[in-house]
Amino acid sequence: MTQETVLTGITTTGTPHLGNYVGAIKPAIEASRRAEVSSYFFLADYHALIKSRDPAAVHQSTLEIAASWLALGLDPEAVTFYRQSDVPEITELTWLLTCVTAKGLMNRAHAYKAAVQENLDAGEDADLAINMGLFSYPILMAADILMFKAHKVPVGKDQLQHLEMARDIAQRFNHHYGELMVLPEAVVEDHVAVLPGQDGRKMSKSYNNTIPLWLPEKRLRKAIMKIVTNSQEPGEPKDPDDSTLCTIYAAFAAAEQRAAMREAYAEGIAWGAAKQQVFELINDELADARERYEALMAAPDEVEALLLEGAAKARSFATPYLGELRAAVGIRPLAS
Ligand code: TRP
Repeated sequence: MTQETVLTGITTTGTPHLGNYVGAIKPAIEASRRAEVSSYFFLADYHALIKSRDPAAVHQSTLEIAASWLALGLDPEAVTFYRQSDVPEITELTWLLTCVTAKGLMNRAHAYKAAVQENLDAGEDADLAINMGLFSYPILMAADILMFKAHKVPVGKDQLQHLEMARDIAQRFNHHYGELMVLPEAVVEDHVAVLPGQDGRKMSKSYNNTIPLWLPEKRLRKAIMKIVTNSQEPGEPKDPDDSTLCTIYAAFAAAEQRAAMREAYAEGIAWGAAKQQVFELINDELADARERYEALMAAPDEVEALLLEGAAKARSFATPYLGELRAAVGIRPLAS
């Protein structure tokens, strides 16, 4: 049986927080352990350039994100783990795809439309500060996916349109040049928890309510102590279904632990004591990985070597396949 290819990319901006861990990293690493899938994970550093013009930040984020996934147990032997920019075939494919992509399709992309709308609302020129990277973002993403004939692409709901566009682009390519591309399917993991942040809204950098994944123990404890609660006194029964703290606890806890915490709420556990339990649970889950993370951050050459090995593995597929695609569009040796 041919293995199913599962592929996902992580844009290298910022540093991972607990919400990324619960909602994306942990489920992805667990899924990659299944023997019947062939997994591709990559650092989308070319995508990062669309959002960030800060070279030091892009560079640092690439290391932090690579070290995070490795520390959390991504096995680079079992999966293909690479940096987008180390696989030049992806950007070459981007051009082949650009030439079959309707401009009208890109006009409809949510992120681009939102940027235009924001300009218009501000009374500015529609195109103010919009670069071609933002406009063409979905084509680069389509190339990421189509380059490896991915069948399944686990993404958040906000990326569904990009997957539809990748399918659309692949179909057009196939229509012109023959059935060379696999049409990818999005997999939306809606059973995974959306972690609330310190203020109770979804944990997100844009709300400034995140708890970074790799805070040292003391600062992690402090950040957890800042999760909002109501003003109920110790001894008063508390409602676990209306408590950010309890939702965060539940995202890390086993079934018995969750039941015990609900019991403690009913019995009126003090907020401070509940927070201490949340801290201990999260800290226990992350402590070993944190040590590995710190070791990797101190040895960037090791991370670099692993990424280069991953790129070589990725290119062993991408190079011959891109050769076929180039030949199909008419870019091939004159003498044959
Ligand atoms: N656009 C994705 C995001 O912002 C990241 C990404 C880039 C990606 N290329 C991809 C995800 C290919 C899946 C497949 O989350």
